Amino acid sequence: MKLLSLFVAVVAFAVTVNVIAQETVNPGGLATIRGASNIDETRPAEKLKRVIKDKNPIARNYVHQPPVVPHQTRGYRVDLNSNKCLSCHSWKHAAQTGATKISLTHFETRDGKTLSDVSPRRYFCSQCHVTQADAAPLVENTFEPVESLGNE
Ligand code: HEC
Ligand code: HEC
Repeated sequence: MKLLSLFVAVVAFAVTVNVIAQETVNPGGLATIRGASNIDETRPAEKLKRVIKDKNPIARNYVHQPPVVPHQTRGYRVDLNSNKCLSCHSWKHAAQTGATKISLTHFETRDGKTLSDVSPRRYFCSQCHVTQADAAPLVENTFEPVESLGNE
């Protein structure tokens, strides 16, 4: 008898796992961000969004927000040998290029030591700074930007 209930439990578990797995593989009409396609299918890439070429810095939404990038950055290389972003945004070049200087925090290590050049943890700019496209939000968002930073 004990064996039978164990068997039933194992079967029930296996069925549940299978149902969950099926749901994940084939979302069955569920709206997902990548669209309703099977996980083992390669979808054609979405069209590239047109990046806003605003020229003016875009108001920040909260105090420690990394400012979003108000210009296109396609093809700007950041690697071991060169950093395209710093060719305009470093203190050395900013005055000449009219770009905002990277702030003092970008020279600080994680232990709070200030270096004489950009800190390795701030080297890969697009880890935090992203371009903007005029796209509809993928999910509802009720966040209200802070007014004191220039938002209406
Ligand atoms: C050719 C020069 C140039 C390069 C290269 C460049 N920028 Fe800029 N960036 C600017 C200028 C100039 C501005 C000021 C607004 C404007 O005129 O577009 C700016 C603005 C910004 C701002 C907004 C600053 C603020 O205070 O709101 C961010 C963030 C930024 N850039 C990030 C980047 C990143 C990340 C890269 C590399 C992927 C990069 N930029 C490469 C010239 C440049
Ligand atoms: C780990 C996240 C991170 C990385 C990587 C990073 N930043 Fe920032 N950046 C921020 C944050 C957060 C702010 C706003 C607060 C501050 O100044 O620290 C900022 C501010 C800025 C500003 C505005 C400065 C000001 O005085 O208003 C510029 C310009 C900028 N970053 C450019 C860059 C560039 C260029 C790089 C790459 C060399 C870079 N950032 C890498 C997070 C990052």
